[in-house]
Amino acid sequence: MPTITVIPGDGIGPEVTAAVIDVFAAAGTDLDYDRQSAGIGAIATHGSPLPQETLDSIDRNRVALKGPLTTPSGSGFRSVNVAIRKNFELFANVRPVQTLLPGGRYEGIDLVLIRENTEGLYVGVEHFIGMERDPRAAAESVMITTRFGSERIARFAFEYAAANGREKVTLAHKANILKHTQGLFLEVGRRIAEEYADRIAFEDRIIDATAMYLVLDPYRFDVLVMENMFGDILSDLMAGLVGGLGFAPAANVGETHAVFEAVHGSAPDIADLGVANPTSLLLSGCLLLDHVGQKEAAARIRRAVQGVIESGAARTADMGGGHGTSEFAAAVIGALA
Ligand code: NAI
Repeated sequence: MPTITVIPGDGIGPEVTAAVIDVFAAAGTDLDYDRQSAGIGAIATHGSPLPQETLDSIDRNRVALKGPLTTPSGSGFRSVNVAIRKNFELFANVRPVQTLLPGGRYEGIDLVLIRENTEGLYVGVEHFIGMERDPRAAAESVMITTRFGSERIARFAFEYAAANGREKVTLAHKANILKHTQGLFLEVGRRIAEEYADRIAFEDRIIDATAMYLVLDPYRFDVLVMENMFGDILSDLMAGLVGGLGFAPAANVGETHAVFEAVHGSAPDIADLGVANPTSLLLSGCLLLDHVGQKEAAARIRRAVQGVIESGAARTADMGGGHGTSEFAAAVIGALA
């Protein structure tokens, strides 16, 4: 039985994690849990937002399910999410979006965004520049693109497309303006695309036009691949196509380790109220089950989640319903076929 690290996280994290564990148990998954702390909560208990025990646990188990973690903006500690990605070289962030809630702006959305997770502006090389009496007169940030990183993520996108029966990869970029950093990303992507030309179609698009077309006609896309910050922004836009962050799962994948997480934050405005939608973490949990070879349980859970949402049997507030987190989980458990 595989052991996975479970990090409930901050805010609504413990509530949605409990819902996932309940559904996993009812679906007959075969997993042992190694519970660990991270985030604001871990500062009080362990003196650090990312305790060494938690890192050791992920290192040992190689697979983790992680709830959202609160990160202070502007000042305070650096993002724990980013630290985990860096520590385990989780270079690919996989964000599938599918329509689950009927009656939204779009029906039948089925897209996957593959975001480069370790380079770009998110390497955190930034500083203030003082001038005269203002120590913060300017700020500078460095965008890093490497041939190695670009090749690794482009290949991952094509391999993902091939393994999942997808037909096309779109590489979104800003090589017209950022000729070096984005130019390299595009050059490498085009070269990798040639290796898959007999199996997977390829196109490249400027990132701003990609954003527009995702809203105007999302059906023209299939798998999208892009650098870190563009992927961060567009993956939330894509979550918006299917009803919001509550419906979008995510996997952070490296050569040896993988961390599956809810894409929404810790939602402090609704924490402890028992009203959070657990779908995002539940679907991330399904990606985890796929990853550890328990695809049947994952498929059963996905069908049950879809059935409950479609029927309107137990919708949470963000879906326009009045049911709580545990009622939603109970309905999913009841719908497991
Ligand atoms: P957020 O995603 O926590 O909340 C944005 C809005 O969406 C809120 O109105 C919230 O109530 C709602 N929402 C989010 N998840 C929901 C769910 N499952 N069910 C129902 N409604 C939901 O984003 P925000 O407020 O910008 O960030 C709060 C904290 O979370 C910050 O400290 C941020 O750094 C952190 N964060 C952590 C992430 C992670 O751990 N992966 C990702 C994004 C933000």
